[in-house]
Amino acid sequence: MVYRVKQFFKSITAKTTEDEEMWVKKVLNGQQQKLFFSLPIYEQRHSIDVAKSIMKKAGQLNKDEYNLLIKAALLHDIGKVNTGLNPITKSIAVIYDCFNSRKKIPSKPKFLQAYYLHPDLGVEFLQRDGDANKTLLFLISNHHQPIDKVSNELLKLLIECDEEN
Ligand SMILES: [Fe+2]
Repeated sequence: MVYRVKQFFKSITAKTTEDEEMWVKKVLNGQQQKLFFSLPIYEQRHSIDVAKSIMKKAGQLNKDEYNLLIKAALLHDIGKVNTGLNPITKSIAVIYDCFNSRKKIPSKPKFLQAYYLHPDLGVEFLQRDGDANKTLLFLISNHHQPIDKVSNELLKLLIECDEEN
């Protein structure tokens, strides 16, 4: 509960810097940038923080793996774009989740569906662009899997860094 309250206040005070925006523009292609900058600012902050955690732990990765994982960090929550998920509706979704089974995901309201299905929605958004890397889509699609059930090392690192932020 204390974690959730902290997370709520963190989200309503979140900011990104101009340098960070410029860096994101170097990492992502045009369509991906459009999606990224359509995220609410606190989601942009979260995604940049996940990327920064990956930078700190990237010791074992080769250059391609590193670049892909940084992209995945920036794009992992892209499925939340235009879904009405915000700090208030997310709090409602967290409460809903406490009392309902994940097997019955409601189709409405949109924010509740996005709370559960944003990994798949994110993949759909990127596929519309036509040039998303298969591993990138795999990482985004699976970033909410329980970490103890994951064997892919890149996915494990993404989940670990997502959970830290
Ligand atoms: Fe997510």
